[in-house]
Amino acid sequence: MPTPTTPLDPWPYPCWIAHRGAGSQAPENTLAAFRLGAEHGFGMFECDVKLSADGEPFLLHDAELERTTNGQGLAGALTWDALSRLDAGSWHGRAHAGEPLLRLENLARWLQALGLMVNLEIKPTPGDDARTGRVVADRVAQWWAQAEVKPLLSSFSLEALDAARDAQPDLPLALLVDRWIPEAIDQAVELGCCALVVHQAFLNDRRIEIIHEAGLKALAYTVNEAERADTLWAGGLDGLITDRVDAFEPQARLGLRPGHRMKIDHLIAESASVPEIVPE
Ligand code: G3P
Ligand code: MG
Repeated sequence: MPTPTTPLDPWPYPCWIAHRGAGSQAPENTLAAFRLGAEHGFGMFECDVKLSADGEPFLLHDAELERTTNGQGLAGALTWDALSRLDAGSWHGRAHAGEPLLRLENLARWLQALGLMVNLEIKPTPGDDARTGRVVADRVAQWWAQAEVKPLLSSFSLEALDAARDAQPDLPLALLVDRWIPEAIDQAVELGCCALVVHQAFLNDRRIEIIHEAGLKALAYTVNEAERADTLWAGGLDGLITDRVDAFEPQARLGLRPGHRMKIDHLIAESASVPEIVPE
């Protein structure tokens, strides 16, 4: 079995990753979400990237505009000029009215200014896989040229990852799977991926071990329960994508996994037992 071409040793990414910027707590994939995720102590973010009709990489989860903007139809059919005038915040709540869609170029500036990291999920408009993989990889190489740690590019689309690797062979790649597919390990390795990102419900200790045996890191999405997170960390998980930026704030802030969390609980308990100093 070939070894990954980008082993990334040591693994440079934080283990806690905020899903779509800040999960469901702010309009997903907008700068407002990233700001909130960062305020909750997250040092790394997952988000979804696709292309406008004129080839501008921007953030949006769905192929269609209806759920998260005031636009209609296929997002990838519009130019960036048209997309940039949409409201991507009102659907979430009045406080976010007028929040615009986010260009990847602007996200690159914001993340690097604050020393934050990102997992860019290449989420092509159906049928646009190869172009999206190639353009996103080329733009990432350009916009993160000065960054010591490059974005981790992931995708469910083998075609998109293949095109990204051909365009920029040095960028770290990860294959996404929404269930356990044993062949995915070989596919990830053959693509030169450094990680497999698996729907959390389909991971267990043995599968994490299988992923590690192939020389890949094991990441899980989307983990929102503390107990589930603890189980996966205990099984050797390398990265966890969550919506619960509020619930996991202390661990994310300190980059802690469960063993360490117990230490923090202990410290908190200890500090609570320190007798109050009474002035004379
Ligand atoms: O990248 C992990 C996760 O975001 C994949 O699923 O549908 O939330 O983009 P989805
Ligand atoms: Mg995603």
